Amino acid sequence: MEEITLNLAQKISSPRPFGLVVSIDSSNKVNVMGISWWTYVSRNPSLLLICLSNRNYTNENIRLSKEFSLCLPSEDIKDEAWKCSTTSGRSINKVEEYNLELIQSNHINTPILRESYVAFECKVVKEIEAGDHIIFLGEILNILGDTTKKPLYSLDDNND
Ligand SMILES: Cc1cc2nc3c(=O)[nH]c(=O)nc-3n(C[C@H](O)[C@H](O)[C@H](O)COP(=O)(O)O)c2cc1C
Repeated sequence: MEEITLNLAQKISSPRPFGLVVSIDSSNKVNVMGISWWTYVSRNPSLLLICLSNRNYTNENIRLSKEFSLCLPSEDIKDEAWKCSTTSGRSINKVEEYNLELIQSNHINTPILRESYVAFECKVVKEIEAGDHIIFLGEILNILGDTTKKPLYSLDDNND
C-alpha cells in the first residue's frame, strides 16, 4: 500500500462501502469488527465518523485508546470479514483465529489490515452519545490505499 489523498480515497470508496474497524485493548490485543455506519465528515480538517453499538468490545477499546483504524477490505477476506462482524473480541482473539495479517500504522499504535484497499489511521477528537450507539469522530492522520485490490463493497447474511 502507499499513501493516497482523501480525494482518491473518496473516489475509490464510493458509494460508501462496508468497513472493518481495528482497535487495541489495554493489553494491546488487536480487535477487528465490521461496520456499515461510517461516513466522511470534513475535508479540512479531514474527519470521518464511526457509529458503534454500546455493546461492542471495540467501543470499549476506542474509549480507552482514543484511536482506531478504519480499513476497507478487499474481496479476498470476505469470509474473515463476516466472522469479524458476527463474533466478539471479548471472548476470542479474532486476529489469530481468522489469520488476519496486520501492518503497522504510521501515525497511531493501532495497526491496519494488509488486505485493505483503503485504510484510514484516525485519532478520536470527539465522542457523542447517540441512543444505544456512540459516534466517534476521528481525525484522519494518514490514508493508505491499493488501487489494485478488488473492494468488498457490502456484506450481508447471504454471505456466499
Ligand atoms: C454487514 C454488517 C454491518 C455492521 N455494521 C455495524 C455498525 O455500523 N456499527 C456497529 O456497532 N456494529 C455493526 N455490525 C455488528 C458488529 O460488527 C458486531 O457486533 C461485532 O461482532 C462486534 O465485535 P466486537 O464485540 O469484537 O467489537 C455490523 C455487522 C454486519 C454483519
